[in-house]
Amino acid sequence: MIRPLALLSVLGLGLASCGPAGSSTAPAAPPRPEPSPVEKAAILAALPAPYDAGDLDNGRRVFARCRSCHTITEGGPNMTGPNLWGIFGRTAGSHAGYNYSSPVKAAGFAWDADRLDHWLQNPRTFLPGNKMTFPGLPNPTDRRDVIAFLKTETGYAPAETPGS
Ligand code: HEC
Repeated sequence: MIRPLALLSVLGLGLASCGPAGSSTAPAAPPRPEPSPVEKAAILAALPAPYDAGDLDNGRRVFARCRSCHTITEGGPNMTGPNLWGIFGRTAGSHAGYNYSSPVKAAGFAWDADRLDHWLQNPRTFLPGNKMTFPGLPNPTDRRDVIAFLKTETGYAPAETPGS
């Protein structure tokens, strides 16, 4: 039995840079600390269904559509959109130094997989009047995979209580 939390604390200490780069074929990916494949597998396995069945390679491909506007590394810059490190559990519209639209600032919830799924399905209707000019991801498998990818890349730590 792997202990995902132990692996996560290693991640949290920023020691992940010793991990192999994996078999990513994405050209010109910017350098960033990358959890090792073993660490990612542990995070993935600890996610609640359906995200534990996520395809991280597809998630990475889908995230290529977000990269022009979002960074996901710790301390990464805000671009057209805010940096997404720590997005799970983060209050919507709260990332320091980013100028959000009023509907996102006023949303009043913390991001979780469910809300992200709705947001990514159709950003325009989920929080009307926001300024994320992205048409949405109509394919539920793409949304599942990009959410699983973000969970493994943005510092998310599965809660210790089972089923959460
Ligand atoms: C064309 C640029 C653009 C693209 C592409 C884009 N976003 Fe965004 N995103 C934004 C902007 C701008 C905001 C801020 C919205 C606001 O304040 O109204 C935002 C906000 C967000 C937020 C809320 C962040 C917070 O701190 O509350 C999340 C989560 C998010 N985007 C995820 C994604 C994901 C995942 C993708 C790809 C599937 C994506 N975005 C694609 C521009 C973009």
